[in-house]
Amino acid sequence: MAKATSKDILSLIEAEHRQVEQLFAEAEKADNKKLYECFNQIFKALTLHARTEELVFYPAMQEYEETKKYIEEAEKEHEEAKVILEEIKELKPGESEFQKKINELQKAVQHHVREEENKIFNAVRKCMNDEQLTNLGREFQETKAKLEPAVKAAMTE
Ligand SMILES: [Fe+2]
Ligand SMILES: [Fe+2]
Repeated sequence: MAKATSKDILSLIEAEHRQVEQLFAEAEKADNKKLYECFNQIFKALTLHARTEELVFYPAMQEYEETKKYIEEAEKEHEEAKVILEEIKELKPGESEFQKKINELQKAVQHHVREEENKIFNAVRKCMNDEQLTNLGREFQETKAKLEPAVKAAMTE
């Protein structure tokens, strides 16, 4: 029986996806001043989420043929999102490009999240048992906590 405090990695990832969607929904309603603050939060949440997946989730997927085949495309999609994030970072919130680029990012993230939750999660559930998923959940949380200070520093560069 898993401890009450331990969560499996898939529910952690899912919860973060919902948080990011919430941030994008806020950005849609935001005025220019607030939009920049929203972007900062999106930048932090997405960067942290993607890096933690790359360090914990994708390496675990490497272990099974059925999950391994999804890694390359998932990493490519992370790379695409990172490029857009960096492009937005160069813009000022008042620029018309800002909202357009945020929409572009939202679409890319939405696509990636669907791929993960629909295809990848199913494959992972077939290959890994509850204990593995809970252990990975712990590792996911620990790794994320370690990465957080560096990601915060990168935002204020
Ligand atoms: Fe991902
Ligand atoms: Fe994800």
